[in-house]
Amino acid sequence: MLNNYSIINSLYELLPRLDLANGKRTELRALIQSIELDFNSVKSYCCWNKNHYTRNLIRRTEEYELLVLCWQKGQFCPIHDHGEQDCFMYIITGELEETQYQLNEQKSSKKSLVEIKRNVYGSRNKICIFSATLWHSVKVLSEQAVTLHFYSKPIDKCRIYYPETKEMSTCQLNYSNDNKINELAI
Ligand SMILES: [Fe+2]
Repeated sequence: MLNNYSIINSLYELLPRLDLANGKRTELRALIQSIELDFNSVKSYCCWNKNHYTRNLIRRTEEYELLVLCWQKGQFCPIHDHGEQDCFMYIITGELEETQYQLNEQKSSKKSLVEIKRNVYGSRNKICIFSATLWHSVKVLSEQAVTLHFYSKPIDKCRIYYPETKEMSTCQLNYSNDNKINELAI
């Protein structure tokens, strides 16, 4: 997407500008797509867990939520939506496979999702999901990966889809750095 914003390469520059956007969807989309962050920009938020990926909060306002996720090889998140909010994902380091699905709006009790895109992404790649009917799954291929996630507005719950049974469940989303959030205010 073309926009008039120059490259934003630090959280110190990004966060005040996101706040100034005051929830305007088009401005937030343009700003977040202008980022080019490296690992040093987010390393103070990073931690890994050998059993699952971690979700580490950078900043949350009424209008948006910015997280850094840390992954190890083979860790994944199942097919999910984003609570009808914008989702933007930026790969800081590592390599991952992302698969996108389109929700089939049937009126039957069991909804179905159709795979529409599957790609491998590496550092500095950007993924936008700006439609409520787009779902996706992510699996990490490299030894480690660090990804930046932006949601507008914040999301506390998402739906998970199980292709085997075509059923869905609601999942509560938590932060892995709950106990450190106050110390990390930037
Ligand atoms: Fe997602």
